[in-house]
Amino acid sequence: MCGIIGIVGRTAVAPRLVESLRRLEYRGYDSAGVAAIVDGKLERRRAVGKLRALDEHLAAEPLGGTVGIGHVRWATHGAPTEANAHPHASGRVMAVHNGIIENYAELKAELIAKGRTFESQTDTEVAVQLIDQYLSEGQAPLAAFQSALARFQGAYALAVLIEGEDRLVLGARRGSPLVVGYGDGEMFIGSDALAVGPFTNRVAYLDEGDVVAIDDTSARILDAAGHDAIRPVRVIPASAALVEKGNYRHFMEKEIHEQPDSCQHTLAAYVDPVALKASPPADVDFKALNRIQIVACGTASYAGLIGKYLIERIAGLPVDVEVSSEFRYREAALSPGTLAVAVSQSGETADTLAALRFCKAQGLVTAAIVNAHQSTMAREADVLWPTHAGPEIGVASTKAFTAQVSVMAALAVAAAAQRGRIDAAQEAHLVHVLLEAPRLISESLQVEDTIREIAHELGRARDVLYLGRGAMYPLALEGALKLKEISYIHAEGYAAGELKHGPIALIEEDTPVIVIAPSDSLFEKTASNMAEVIARGARVIMITDAEGQRHAPPGARVVTAPACDPLIAPLVFAGAIQLLAYYTAVQKGADVDQPRNLAKSVTVE
Ligand code: M6R
Repeated sequence: MCGIIGIVGRTAVAPRLVESLRRLEYRGYDSAGVAAIVDGKLERRRAVGKLRALDEHLAAEPLGGTVGIGHVRWATHGAPTEANAHPHASGRVMAVHNGIIENYAELKAELIAKGRTFESQTDTEVAVQLIDQYLSEGQAPLAAFQSALARFQGAYALAVLIEGEDRLVLGARRGSPLVVGYGDGEMFIGSDALAVGPFTNRVAYLDEGDVVAIDDTSARILDAAGHDAIRPVRVIPASAALVEKGNYRHFMEKEIHEQPDSCQHTLAAYVDPVALKASPPADVDFKALNRIQIVACGTASYAGLIGKYLIERIAGLPVDVEVSSEFRYREAALSPGTLAVAVSQSGETADTLAALRFCKAQGLVTAAIVNAHQSTMAREADVLWPTHAGPEIGVASTKAFTAQVSVMAALAVAAAAQRGRIDAAQEAHLVHVLLEAPRLISESLQVEDTIREIAHELGRARDVLYLGRGAMYPLALEGALKLKEISYIHAEGYAAGELKHGPIALIEEDTPVIVIAPSDSLFEKTASNMAEVIARGARVIMITDAEGQRHAPPGARVVTAPACDPLIAPLVFAGAIQLLAYYTAVQKGADVDQPRNLAKSVTVE
């Protein structure tokens, strides 16, 4: 949502804050700001828009000091204006915030009644003013901070500077992540390990309700009850600290091409290539389960839907999938013997976390398929099923999606074997199929010239339809989401068989219809649906394999993917839809890695 950083350092703080914010920009880019303690006084610089606007502001008006805080914003309360940009200031306090203080209106009214005036529409300014209010009433800095935190309802990660405390940054987390970075004679707090990655690889993850005070050499951590607490310091892998685009134009392009590797790394944790057995890293007794309930948002929910198709077909185990934002509030009836599975790249998505907690409170065993292994979901779920996609920076999810699908495919095989739905020879065959996926994904990405040409045409479209059957239906939904979010073209995904029940009315002369149709048992059915749209003037773009290509209708543009087993078809066919969205957005000149109105990690409802 938003990204925050705090530094008690030994060298000029402003460039370091900006360096860190560059790694956090995936969390929000409506505005950015930094503050520092300069000669005992608080100073800040803020700018609307992407980080480069702040860079320019800092070049024109440099900011000194070695202790500071910084923020990139994804606007919730108040438009993206400079007045609403963080850090917010009041009296002796400046602070940056990720999350939403839900009772801000009530607190604001109380502060106005005390004679305070506000310069922004944000909930954060209310938080800042409340801390300052307690300071002005004579409380010491940490006590004033804790008094204010005790009044907040909602979610927050905060970093706070206090005038008169030259070598101190205060932080706190509830509902939004915060890490502490341990440097050499300097200390850091930040939204994630990436944020402190340029300065240290020693990181502690704060727990819910923790408060922290960092100075030059130490972090004092207090738990939710206000008792001194110790959080283990971990050495984070280099991959978490390294986020560079290399020779690629965009992170999204790089991440699409990383998929053979990320899929291989993920599968390596879920299958034994020697014994040819599925061996998930955390044991779940699939025989004892009656049902799986998957909760997730956006792309992760489509990975869950693919999981439903695979797990039900191969393992015969019922799977329900629901978007977390609905699931969390509808008082779902959950039966014993259900395993609740949260799927999330970030492990911090507010709705999915709430859905996971709801299931846990109902007494279900919970599992989390997450890419951020130290995230809140990873830590709160009973079972951790990690994906190994590495840091995903592009706001449009690509490699995290295929890593989630890889886990689903491996779990389907594990569940089928445990439940006696397949014998050892069939399990060995399916594991062999899984192990072929990275190579086939790599082959599937060798279609860029064709895709560039098609993207040129797609870029002119007003509406685009995606069709698929079976596990290709969720992929059609994902294709439409990818195109919408980065190229801003209206797109919808449909189950191919549903078309004639309404959506076919949308087809006009030249409407592009992207049909994902591997030559599987459903191919002929999908081919009939293709004929139906062609008869009504649609321009069909068919993503298929060599066999399917032989049956392509006249006039259809064809993107050819390698032939593969249906178990891995969602992995092998994903690349084409991602590249189509990517090149269409590039061709339109859109900001691929930072599409308008979006943020990578949605930590508010
Ligand atoms: O971090 P999560 O996987 O929980 O995020 C879920 C969605 O917000 C995310 O997949 C979103 O839909 C992406 N922008 C899709 O590209």
